[in-house]
Amino acid sequence: MKIGVFDSGYGGLTILEKIRERLPQYDYIYLGDNARTPYGTRSFEVVYQYTWQCVKKLFEMDCELVILACNTASAKALRSIQQNELLHYYPNRRVLGVIRPTAERVDALTKTRVVGLVATDGTVQSNSYSLEVGKLFPDIQVINQACPMWVPLIENNEHQSAGADFFVKKYLDQLLAKNASIDTLILGCTHYPLLLQKIEHYLPSHIHIVTQGNIVADSLADYLERHPEIEQACSKGGKTRFLTTESAEKFQSSASIFLQETIEAEHISLD
Ligand code: DGL
Repeated sequence: MKIGVFDSGYGGLTILEKIRERLPQYDYIYLGDNARTPYGTRSFEVVYQYTWQCVKKLFEMDCELVILACNTASAKALRSIQQNELLHYYPNRRVLGVIRPTAERVDALTKTRVVGLVATDGTVQSNSYSLEVGKLFPDIQVINQACPMWVPLIENNEHQSAGADFFVKKYLDQLLAKNASIDTLILGCTHYPLLLQKIEHYLPSHIHIVTQGNIVADSLADYLERHPEIEQACSKGGKTRFLTTESAEKFQSSASIFLQETIEAEHISLD
C-alpha cells in the first residue's frame, strides 16, 4: 500500500515535502483537487462531498492510509469521514488530519495562554482549532483571523509581490488588534508557509510561529511506529506520484513554486 496525501490544491505540498524528508522510504500518492480549489469558502456539505470523493479515489489506488494535508478539509470533513464512511464501510482504512497534531503542540509554546490562528474562512468558521485546543488545554484561548486573500495570492504566484505585503500586514494587524497578549501564531492553512518571510516581517518578533509540515511529519512517524501492521504493509520504494483533477501541465509548473524540484503530474478524473 501507499500513503495518500490530499489537498484541495497545492498547499498540501508543503506538508508532503516535510513528510518525505522525515520518511523518505515510503511510496506516496499526492492528490490535488485543483479543478475545484479553493475549498476555503465552500460549505460543510460541499467540502465533505469533495474531500470524500478524493479520499475514495486514493483508497481505490491502494492507499490504506490517507493524510488530509488541508486544514479546511480536516475541519469540515474529517470527523464525518471517520464516523460515517470508515466506521461502516471501510473499517481497515485510516484517514488522519492536520488539526489535532498542531493543537497538541501549542501548550509547550505559549506562556500567555493566548494563541492566534490564521486560516481560511472555512477553517475559522468551523471553530475547529478552538474546540481541539480547548479539549486538550482548557486554559488556552484561541483568537481566530480569516485571511481570505492569502490562498489566491499564493495560487496566482503573487506571494512575493507588494500586494502580498499589504494583505499580510492587514490580517496580522486585525488579529493583533483583537488581543495583544498573543504570543504564538498557528499558520492553520497548508498554503501559508509560502508567506512565512512576510509574516515574520510584520509579526512582532516575540511571537512564535507554528508551521505544520514538521508537526504532521512527526505525527505520521509516531503513528506508524504505534501501528506496525500498517507500517509493514507500506511499500518502500521511495517514490511519489502526483495526481491532479486539473491539467497535468499546469500542476507541474505551479508545483515548482511549492517544491524545490521538477515533478511529473498525471491528470485524473474522479468519476
Ligand atoms: N490548503 C488549504 C488549507 O490548509 C486551503 C486552501 C483552500 O482554500 O482550498 O486549509
